[in-house]
Amino acid sequence: MTASRKPVLVFGATGRQGGSVVTALLTAGWPIRAFVRDLTSPKSQALRDAGVDLVQGTFDDTDMIRAAMEGVHGVFSVQPSSPGGVVSDEDELRFGVAVADLSVESGIKHLVYSSTNAVGDTLTGMGHLDSKARIEAHINALPITATIVRPASFMELLVMPGFGLNEARFNFFAKPNQSIQLLAVEDIGKFVAAIFAQPARFGGKTLEIASDTVTGAHLGAVFTEAAGRPITYARFPDEVLATNPFLRKLTDLLDEGRLAGNADLDALRKLNPELRSFRSWIAASGREAFRAALGTADAWAYKA
Ligand SMILES: NC(=O)c1ccc[n+]([C@@H]2O[C@H](COP(=O)([O-])OP(=O)(O)OC[C@H]3O[C@@H](n4cnc5c(N)ncnc54)[C@H](OP(=O)(O)O)[C@@H]3O)[C@@H](O)[C@H]2O)c1
Repeated sequence: MTASRKPVLVFGATGRQGGSVVTALLTAGWPIRAFVRDLTSPKSQALRDAGVDLVQGTFDDTDMIRAAMEGVHGVFSVQPSSPGGVVSDEDELRFGVAVADLSVESGIKHLVYSSTNAVGDTLTGMGHLDSKARIEAHINALPITATIVRPASFMELLVMPGFGLNEARFNFFAKPNQSIQLLAVEDIGKFVAAIFAQPARFGGKTLEIASDTVTGAHLGAVFTEAAGRPITYARFPDEVLATNPFLRKLTDLLDEGRLAGNADLDALRKLNPELRSFRSWIAASGREAFRAALGTADAWAYKA
């Protein structure tokens, strides 16, 4: 079980990654302290109801982060990024570096930082990916037991509005026969729980994390099956990529192999035997968002 009865401090606990980590660490028996911006928000209240100790503050508030780290065993660090529209790439870098530096100063035994699987030997040219590469480099130079996880693209992204599901099509980065790894957000916490349980094994390591490997054609097939009607798959049309530099760059990165993912799914399944396939995810956690993306609540016909 736990190496210590001291809590793990989770950043972003009201968000996707941090929320997944809180759920899994609570299940594993860790006391949790969450660093939240608004103690009164419904998500903060839900954390409190689940037995989480809440500390209020923002990433800009060094004194509050330092206070939140008092008496803490481990830290899960994740920062918002520029595509969310609220922070700049420089903010993300500053926040990630501050959490890492304060973890050292506070004598934290194990820091787990969530990066991206796009980080490699060279920068990508995309600010919100390269900020994570810089935070990784900073952490790797610090005198602390740290584990870096590099998540693949979230399955949750695929069922956000705008990829064409409401028009019986699905457009994404991959060519129909091109592979890309995907990650169910619920699996993040399970990996992180396994990492906190084995600091000697994972300290100093960088681990790509993913739940499944799919192709564009496979996505179309699973969506078709789940919708009960044909969903046509195609890569984003050239005219869309020509007018959207953000999508163009991500598509180029996939073609270069930078976003395709190299996670060892067999090894990850040993850490988390409940690893989600895309098909099983869309039948369960992804089902509601998928139905919403289809634009009709009656379209669900998936038989698990
Ligand atoms: N691999 C992928 O496909 C993928 C997809 C999306 C995102 N990401 C990466 O994941 C990271 C974001 O994680 P996420 O998706 O879990 O985020 P999320 O769901 O958007 O949640 C953001 C969390 O950060 C908190 N937060 C925001 N600004 C803060 C501040 N100034 N001080 C303290 N807390 C603050 C939010 O708290 P409130 O509740 O107060 O807002 C929330 O808990 C980004 O770096 C992004 O690049 C990766």
